[in-house]
Amino acid sequence: MNLEKLVIKPVAADRLPELLRRMPKAELHIHIEGSLEPELIFALAQRNGLALPYASVEALRSAYAFTNLQSFLDIYYAGASVLLKEQDFYDMTRAYLLKAAQDNVVHAELFFDPQTHTARGVRMETIINGLHRAGVDANAELGISVSLIMCFLRHLSDEEAFETLEQALPFRDKLIGVGLDSGEVGNPPEKFARVFARCRALGFHRVAHAGEEGPPAYVWTALDVLKVERVDHGVQSGKDAALMQRLAQDRIPLTVCPLSNLKLCVFPDLAGHNLRRLLDAGLVATVNSDDPAYFGGYMNDNFTQTFAALHLDAQHAWTLARNSFEASFIEVSARQHHLDQLNETFETFQ
Ligand code: ADE
Ligand code: ZN
Repeated sequence: MNLEKLVIKPVAADRLPELLRRMPKAELHIHIEGSLEPELIFALAQRNGLALPYASVEALRSAYAFTNLQSFLDIYYAGASVLLKEQDFYDMTRAYLLKAAQDNVVHAELFFDPQTHTARGVRMETIINGLHRAGVDANAELGISVSLIMCFLRHLSDEEAFETLEQALPFRDKLIGVGLDSGEVGNPPEKFARVFARCRALGFHRVAHAGEEGPPAYVWTALDVLKVERVDHGVQSGKDAALMQRLAQDRIPLTVCPLSNLKLCVFPDLAGHNLRRLLDAGLVATVNSDDPAYFGGYMNDNFTQTFAALHLDAQHAWTLARNSFEASFIEVSARQHHLDQLNETFETFQ
């Protein structure tokens, strides 16, 4: 893999947004249920004959004023309750992939939360088949490659995670990995030691949300107990110098989500975000959208707003795009192809 730091030509500040848009990139931290725009929530509710506790699209959108992770999750799970049929999961994924392709996302690894659907009687095959079919079609039509990562809800038990894993095993070939999400504080990674060990034995890639709101100790146990290959968010690692050193040395990627951190009050403003510090410390940080329909922006919104707030430059842009491919679970040859395309974009950009 091409890991050297290319010398990048300076790019004028007013041309940087165009470079950020045009550069090929991978999105590695997107909860597909978090891409449900209010318009689609209302359309799916109507199609499925469900009543929503909001009078209109505008009323729902105006409820998106979050104070922390849990205040968001309450609304996020309510929004996801309109998903019942395979076509619903397809339509949601299709809408996201169309937006991602416009942002020059050439590879996406999608998180999904099966337990929030199976708890309502939706079958695992309905969920996975809808997501998978949308990915196959988008690959054929838009050229974007798509992989699925099944997340366990950490506010539920390890036993429930095992049941979910059992339900998903018939569809093993449609999944690349497992993750861990939902309310972090009070639900440390080690609660899921057994199920992650089983997933590792089964050959799944492993990621976990850690250090979003939770302490650096959760990042340590995600690494040492769950043996994750990537940490989702991980921004609280900045508080622990030894952890920063470990992440840099082992090139453990962090999938950072700046607009999410802003909307969930992890940082008071984007200018106070620690992305630049993480990059300066040599960490394999990436930029991602998390739950774009709820946090005010897709990939390019995250890139352009963060670059403006932190005064990042073309070298940072190249590093972040390069990191996204390094951190992804794609095959070596596809990764090299994307890196070549990335370098060509930077070499020819005027
Ligand atoms: N589920 C969806 N978005 C999440 C986030 N940012 N943190 C934890 N769980 C989530
Ligand atoms: Zn997330």
